[in-house]
Amino acid sequence: MGIQKFPITEEQIDTLVAEFYARVRRDPDIGPVFLRAIGTDGEIWRHHEAKIASFWRNAMGIDRSFSGNPMLKHLANNDILPEQFPIWLGIFEQAAHDVLPESTALSIVALANRIGESLQFGLVQFRKPQDGPPSLTPAV
Ligand code: HEM
Repeated sequence: MGIQKFPITEEQIDTLVAEFYARVRRDPDIGPVFLRAIGTDGEIWRHHEAKIASFWRNAMGIDRSFSGNPMLKHLANNDILPEQFPIWLGIFEQAAHDVLPESTALSIVALANRIGESLQFGLVQFRKPQDGPPSLTPAV
């Protein structure tokens, strides 16, 4: 599949994803968002974590098994607010530093921050027409 963005194994991605969501589920601010969207069923959570691991393998250039549309999924869930992104990214950063080698953690955190910025920007932009000033261009 060509050259990866930086060295990380599939196992490291799985470990990070499991650790990250274990912490997210306990978080008082964003835990409830995931509880409402995904619930408490272990099987459903394993499915979500497997999808997220494939998202990261795709982002890393390891494989192309991910099919989804993160921007639309986050936009469609009105529970997800732009101001929650720093919380999500903070938990991700701590989990990454706790389970990955330092240089790998720094690289994947930088990537998560860029993706998070664009998702956050998307939420702000696309949700604006509902309660913001009128736009002269049609909403997409
Ligand atoms: C405020 C921060 C965030 C919250 C509360 C949040 C919450 C969620 C929830 C509840 C879902 C499940 C949606 C569903 O299947 O119905 C989801 C899906 C997903 N999230 Fe997030 N998320 C956040 C930020 C991020 C960031 C920064 C990334 C990536 C760096 C990310 C990556 C994904 C991906 C890949 C999916 C699967 C999308 C799909 O099925 O197409 N999320 N998120």
